Amino acid sequence: MIVPLGPRRGGLLRAGPTRRPMRTEEPPPHETAVALRTALAEKRASVGVIGLGYVGLPLAYALHGAGLRVVGFDTDAQKVEALAEGRNYLKHLGEALGAELAESARFEATTDFARLGEVDAVLVCVPTPLGSAREPDLSFVLSTAHSIGRALRAGQLLVLESTTYPGTTRDEFLPAVLEAALAAGKSLEPGVDFFVAYSPERADPGRTTHSTATIPKVVGGLDATSGELAGELYRTCVEDVRVVTNAEVAEASKLLENVFRAVNIALVNELKVVLERLDINVWEVVEAASTKPFGFMPFYPGPGLGGHCIPIDPFYLAWKAKQVGQPSRFVELAGEINTEMPDYVIGRTVQTLENAGVALRDARVLVLGLAYKPDVDDTRESPSFELIAGLAALGAHVDYSDPHIPRTVPTRKHDLRRESVALDADSIRSYDAVLIATAHRAFDYELLAEHAALIVDTRNAMAGFKDRLGSRLVRA
Ligand SMILES: NC(=O)c1ccc[n+]([C@@H]2O[C@H](COP(=O)([O-])OP(=O)(O)OC[C@H]3O[C@@H](n4cnc5c(N)ncnc54)[C@H](O)[C@@H]3O)[C@@H](O)[C@H]2O)c1
Repeated sequence: MIVPLGPRRGGLLRAGPTRRPMRTEEPPPHETAVALRTALAEKRASVGVIGLGYVGLPLAYALHGAGLRVVGFDTDAQKVEALAEGRNYLKHLGEALGAELAESARFEATTDFARLGEVDAVLVCVPTPLGSAREPDLSFVLSTAHSIGRALRAGQLLVLESTTYPGTTRDEFLPAVLEAALAAGKSLEPGVDFFVAYSPERADPGRTTHSTATIPKVVGGLDATSGELAGELYRTCVEDVRVVTNAEVAEASKLLENVFRAVNIALVNELKVVLERLDINVWEVVEAASTKPFGFMPFYPGPGLGGHCIPIDPFYLAWKAKQVGQPSRFVELAGEINTEMPDYVIGRTVQTLENAGVALRDARVLVLGLAYKPDVDDTRESPSFELIAGLAALGAHVDYSDPHIPRTVPTRKHDLRRESVALDADSIRSYDAVLIATAHRAFDYELLAEHAALIVDTRNAMAGFKDRLGSRLVRA
């Protein structure tokens, strides 16, 4: 049903970003919502997933597994082609995914965004990176919103999943959808003709203890009907769905989760530096404190933050906090401490080499692990890049070894142009120091203990060999 947008409706939708979000109340009974709710409950609804990356692909797979028809949308033609050919480009999701989706009559992937009108629900899983001044970059979200708006039709449910600051769905995403819809000659009213919600993603690539189905899902609508419909959609493939008061609560809950991690990692990173001065092993301290059965949760130090979430999301909150004149000092300090970590590790490595009488310009250093966390091939924001570039800039010859990443690809900041070095006795012996940045299970730590001249360990990976290694082992 097409409803003209009256002045009252338009005014409400375009209210400024500082406006307190409406509290959602009882959903108004409406035939469009009822029809969509029934289609979702009976799994007759079709779903479009925009952005087939670490978040979108497993979500599309889970919805397909629940029996729904799924259309994947991505601007990257190579991903679309790979899925059509049965190739899964995200190895941690398992080999079966590619063939299963390619052979299914209920799944297809496309770069044709005009087809967005075909599906009943649209889930947006596009990147939300930072700009050059660490400000939120919503360009992917907004261009997607415009594509959706152009194809929008009555009866659709739109859910933003990309991590972002509170207010984005109401104040940025929805207006962009409406603007494109109006430009295409459509006047549809949100909450009546189409529905908009936010639901944060909690995927942790590589974690085997949880899956899309078992990780509880938080959902918040721009209005009560939208929240309820989005809840119905996720119930098709997620066991525990929590519908919260509105989209802003859902947006803020995701940032709290990630800020919580960033702040606690910063705390333990700072403690690592302090305890090192006191010649106390921070890892042993965390292990000892972890024996407390309540009121403590262990976090571990490292060479810096990596991945699409923890290094980035806190800055979204900090930016929004500044916008409303209430700086979040805690969050900013955590960002500062974590960002300094690669430099601290570089300093420790340089000092270790100097103590061993190796001049940095003659030094050969092997960095173990290019991925930002163990057993995956995800290099986004990986501190290993900073370590390699930083040591190389000081004059050392630096290589890396990572069984999951055969060669480096250029990033926003670095073009390292290196290939992974095979880890055998001869290669290990050819380096003055081995710097453990990521503790992949595939590394042979026994071989390292046997042949490495010096080991700088940022992950406590060599704890079991500390007596044998003696002064050849340095924590950083
Ligand atoms: N990676 C995680 O573990 C994780 C966890 C929770 C939340 N998130 C959030 O989810 C969002 C997506 O992250 P991700 O890790 O899946 O990113 P990703 O880079 O793996 O995937 C994003 C996909 O979107 C595609 N894309 C980019 N612009 C597009 C556009 N305009 N239209 C359609 N497709 C487009 C890219 O080609 C890519 O396939 C981000 O906001 C991120 O913060 C990520």
